Amino acid sequence: MIKSIIRGTGKFVPPNLVTNKDLEKILDTSDEWIQQRTGIKQRYWVSPEGVTGASDLGFEAAKQALDAAGWTAEDLDFIIFATLSPDIMFPGCGCLMAAKLGLNSTPALDIRQQCTGFLYGFATADAYIKTGLAKKVLLVGGEVHSSGLDKSTRGRDVTVIFGDGAGALCIEGVDTKDCGLLASALHADGNYADSLMTELPASRLPHRNPPGLPLDDPRYFPVMDGPSIFKKAVRLLPKVTKEVLEKAGIGLDEVDLVVPHQANKRINQAFGQFLKLPEDKIFHNIEKYGNTTAASIPLALHEAIEQGRTGKSGETVLFVALGAGLTWGASLYRFL
Ligand code: ACO
Repeated sequence: MIKSIIRGTGKFVPPNLVTNKDLEKILDTSDEWIQQRTGIKQRYWVSPEGVTGASDLGFEAAKQALDAAGWTAEDLDFIIFATLSPDIMFPGCGCLMAAKLGLNSTPALDIRQQCTGFLYGFATADAYIKTGLAKKVLLVGGEVHSSGLDKSTRGRDVTVIFGDGAGALCIEGVDTKDCGLLASALHADGNYADSLMTELPASRLPHRNPPGLPLDDPRYFPVMDGPSIFKKAVRLLPKVTKEVLEKAGIGLDEVDLVVPHQANKRINQAFGQFLKLPEDKIFHNIEKYGNTTAASIPLALHEAIEQGRTGKSGETVLFVALGAGLTWGASLYRFL
């Protein structure tokens, strides 16, 4: 049976380190508040002078993943790019990154599912592989949040959590059994779209950028009802975990490591407590990178493998995420 197997991973963050102390200098916050409420100590933001889009960060992570897989870009027959912060309105980052990889006809698809983008991307890659539409897929999550954040005290709840970065996976269809992507469970509820969104520019308006609006109008920046998203995450992430375990027909005790979306360390700790998971079964790197949205799971997976926390044949990882949309989901992967 054809299964989707991870052949290589990659990660990239821009060199510009921004600590919580740096943020104290530009808005009313404190290192103590950020660490206590989120677990974040620092994040990387692209240089404000440079011209760096999500596809540039994705390109760097993609090159690493290709090297790790022993593939060249020409080996790819499908590209999926997950981002909420595309370089430009259109075309999508998948096309832009494919051109940077030197490709000129490989199909490329963008996914706009925010923090759940990686899970939707992996499930999509799997569907393409299982239906024979693709064999070697590059899945990238990449975000440049920093150029779109409200860096005044008004936006502090959102601005302190987001970091820029990218993660990439090379995924291949292999005839095998009992390993690869075992199951995915995906959900969306657009009734809560306004609990986390950036409203402008908006095609639903007569002018996408309404004339006369100041550039610091709050609608140009992400706004979030943090406490309500937090509560939804704590309730829905364990629920979707049970769903995906049932789909795969395995028990939680068979999961060796959870690599969750890195939105808030407290969310992942509450998730672990609810499911009675030992602390060392949950991988965290939010302290170094903040929330890199679609990049966060592939970036965390890359580090977990690098650190020897997962990646051995037969080991099973659970991915789980919730984000804007609302979107949420989980998937289970077993290494070949
Ligand atoms: N520094 C200092 N004080 C702050 C900051 C800050 N950066 N941000 C908010 N505060 C203040 C608030 O003004 C409030 O003050 P008040 O009590 O005087 O009114 C107080 O801190 C508490 O604010 P809350 O919003 O209730 O703080 P909370 O503990 O909920 O933490 C946070 C906020 C970190 C945003 C949390 O709600 C959270 O992580 N929510 C979920 C985020 C998430 O998972 N998002 C989805 C993924 S992102 C995506 O999909 C794009």
